[in-house]
Amino acid sequence: MQASATATTRALCASSTTWLATAHVPHLLHDAGAHVTFLGPHGAWPLKGRFVDRHVAAEGSPAEVARALGDHLATGESYDWVIIGDDPLLAALATLRAEPWVPGVLPIEPDAVRHGLLGTKVGFVRACGALGLPSPWSRVCRGKPAIEAAVRELGRPALIKEDGFSGGEGCHRVATVRDVRALPDAIGTAEVVVQEFVTGQMHSLEALYDRGHLRALLTSRVVRAWPAPYGPSAVRRFEHDDALVTFAEQIGRVVGVHGFGNITVIRGDDGRLVLIELDPRPNAVFHLGDALGVPMSDALRAILARAPIAPPAHLARGTDVEVPLFPGDVLRCVLEGDLGGLAAWTLNLDGRWRFLPQDDPKLLAAYRVHIVRALARHLLPSPVRTFAMQVPRTLGRLREATAQLRRASVDSKIRSALTRTNPS
Ligand SMILES: Nc1ncnc2c1ncn2[C@@H]1O[C@H](COP(=O)(O)OP(=O)(O)O)[C@@H](O)[C@H]1O
Ligand SMILES: [Mg+2]
Repeated sequence: MQASATATTRALCASSTTWLATAHVPHLLHDAGAHVTFLGPHGAWPLKGRFVDRHVAAEGSPAEVARALGDHLATGESYDWVIIGDDPLLAALATLRAEPWVPGVLPIEPDAVRHGLLGTKVGFVRACGALGLPSPWSRVCRGKPAIEAAVRELGRPALIKEDGFSGGEGCHRVATVRDVRALPDAIGTAEVVVQEFVTGQMHSLEALYDRGHLRALLTSRVVRAWPAPYGPSAVRRFEHDDALVTFAEQIGRVVGVHGFGNITVIRGDDGRLVLIELDPRPNAVFHLGDALGVPMSDALRAILARAPIAPPAHLARGTDVEVPLFPGDVLRCVLEGDLGGLAAWTLNLDGRWRFLPQDDPKLLAAYRVHIVRALARHLLPSPVRTFAMQVPRTLGRLREATAQLRRASVDSKIRSALTRTNPS
């Protein structure tokens, strides 16, 4: 753990999962001059890097982590900013929105309409409709007959989205009522989104908002998604795009988002821009801003300092940089057996290593372990795999036990020194 001596502001990032999304948040906040507390499970990615100053352990379900966050804040700890790092925790907090401390930690005012934007696909679609956001034709349905009726009403291909999933899981493209009937029956039991399938160019936006005002934005085209076709992006083309900057500004104003906004937009074949997703939380791409000339830490510093609102930072006009994302694209190469891709990563083709967290060797080492584990899961026969998985865990436990012994021995030395200097 590293303490930041000059920190004057205090930020807390909370997560109920071990998603990669929050891996770089401590580094960004540290560079923005904040003392960083992480609240969440031991295995979480923020703890694998070197920029968390303090860890408040919180394990269990999202509801339990939400409770732990409330208990922690009730102890009188105060923060300039609390960042909620994942969708399940956002959704859990949305259900607690009547509690007085909850609105203060949410990135969106959880009013009767907007609370739907917190961690649920069904709520998102309802809120988009109520707020008049430019989203595709959508219906919320429960039960196969209702889904079939919606697909019939639309009369064009649709994407059915089950709630509670992310990374493209639970998405099913259907063209006809017969396709709906072929889906697993479980899909009919909970509310799902039936949405017009929009053909066109997929864009991903990383936006930083200051109480609804856009402070910084990365605009990109998704070149490759993995797992295809609906998974997270593995290769992006970062390009300046005026229309997307204006779009992100408008969304921020209407929704009133504060902090990180992880946005998916489709530019349809007819040229219209439609909002597919706005996750008001970090993802593991924001830190690329520094290498692309959009320093996100400056925007975070301005947000923390409540600096006057200024025009948003965005990519320079003419920017056009293809970036294979780490570690997603490496995992893709490993699991798809893409030897050319692996060679490109090994040989630092196109200078791709400059997008890696080079100033955080601890995080880089954790990524390496993550990749080797994925490789092992993919390649090794099961008994060997079980053994191989145990090795890093056992080494970790050994390291922790050694550190505890060392701390205990330091404690006893301090105690005996105190007894010597201050006998009572
Ligand atoms: N209406 C749509 N038309 C075409 N493709 C879509 C549509 N909605 C989503 N997708 C595709 O499916 C992916 C996953 O959908 P999304 O709503 O972003 O859920 P997730 O939370 O799983 O990322 C998107 O990234 C996009 O590629
Ligand atoms: Mg998405």
